[in-house]
Amino acid sequence: MKTPLTALSFALSASALTLRQSPCCFHLTATGGPSGPLGQLSDGQNRIGQGSPPSTYCISADGGLTDHSGRGCILTGPTTQFQCDTGAGATPGFSVGCDGMLVYNGMAKFVACPTGDQGGFNVYVRAPQGQGGCVDVMLAADSCKAGCPSPAAAPTQKSCPPNLSGIWEFPHLIIPIDASNPTKAYGTSYNGHISSNKSAIFNFDFPPSLAGKTCTLIFLLPTQDKLVTSSFTLSGSGEVVFARLEKPATEATSWGNMPGAEEEFGVARLRPGESYVVASFACPAGEREGFVMGAKLPSADPINLEWFQDWNPEAVGLYISAC
Ligand SMILES: *[C@@H]1O[C@H](CO)[C@@H](O)[C@H](O)[C@H]1NC(C)=O
Ligand SMILES: *[C@@H]1O[C@H](CO)[C@@H](O)[C@H](O)[C@H]1NC(C)=O
Repeated sequence: MKTPLTALSFALSASALTLRQSPCCFHLTATGGPSGPLGQLSDGQNRIGQGSPPSTYCISADGGLTDHSGRGCILTGPTTQFQCDTGAGATPGFSVGCDGMLVYNGMAKFVACPTGDQGGFNVYVRAPQGQGGCVDVMLAADSCKAGCPSPAAAPTQKSCPPNLSGIWEFPHLIIPIDASNPTKAYGTSYNGHISSNKSAIFNFDFPPSLAGKTCTLIFLLPTQDKLVTSSFTLSGSGEVVFARLEKPATEATSWGNMPGAEEEFGVARLRPGESYVVASFACPAGEREGFVMGAKLPSADPINLEWFQDWNPEAVGLYISAC
């Protein structure tokens, strides 16, 4: 049964959206640096410390935040300070990750910088130039987690380590496909590029020696500083979908003639420094299988991820871990 990837993406995003009732409200707690509830000054500046009571933030379907006074939360230019201003249109692109962390543009990292006033800290996306004492923080929400990957096809199936510490396989063929260029067959590639139009198919050859073992499809995204020969750039929401195809790809595969999706694996929200278990299944020993990875669509802020797939010494990309 052929399911075009566009239908797949729509089906998955529809189910992810139902997880989040709009608007959904939460409190935020800073962790990792100065810790404690995120409160506000009377003018709407968000503060860690300084005795401000916890504020409530509500998130809209497009990822805009408003505070309990209905003020739109913005990142002021040029410093990227996170504050909520009367009459301001909320900056889109926020979300609450599966682990409850507030994410902006795919990143769960914010920066807290001391205000010099009663031990308080302002919150930024990037440390302002010339500002000392800034530390990285995460902001944990107590509600509204969304876009959690749906459980793998066989929830009772054990999964193998989400790293390359044991038996593992790399894809023997990576085929880029482009929805805006549906008849073009790009042939083999060492790079992955996932954006609103660009997806990629990965063929894995499962050796006969994997008979009777479990295979776990994993996506690895270390932080950039750990990478030596590989590299990546990531922007947007970070949300991707994966599916197993009815047939593997060939070098003649294009968006227009790609095999149908046989099994969908749900949505993952990629963040540097994390590895993802996409699915676990009995290893199809002696066979070749194709898996497709694409942006979760529609999206207010689709992912744009490019990487060079390599595994020396830290891997980035799609792999099979077997156990
Ligand atoms: C790989 O993952 C396993 C299971 O999560 C963990 O115990 C092990 O320490 C990891 N190995 C490396 C090298 O990260
Ligand atoms: C990507 O696809 C959209 C339609 O989905 C189209 O409007 C846009 O021009 C395409 N972008 C590129 C770079 O081809």
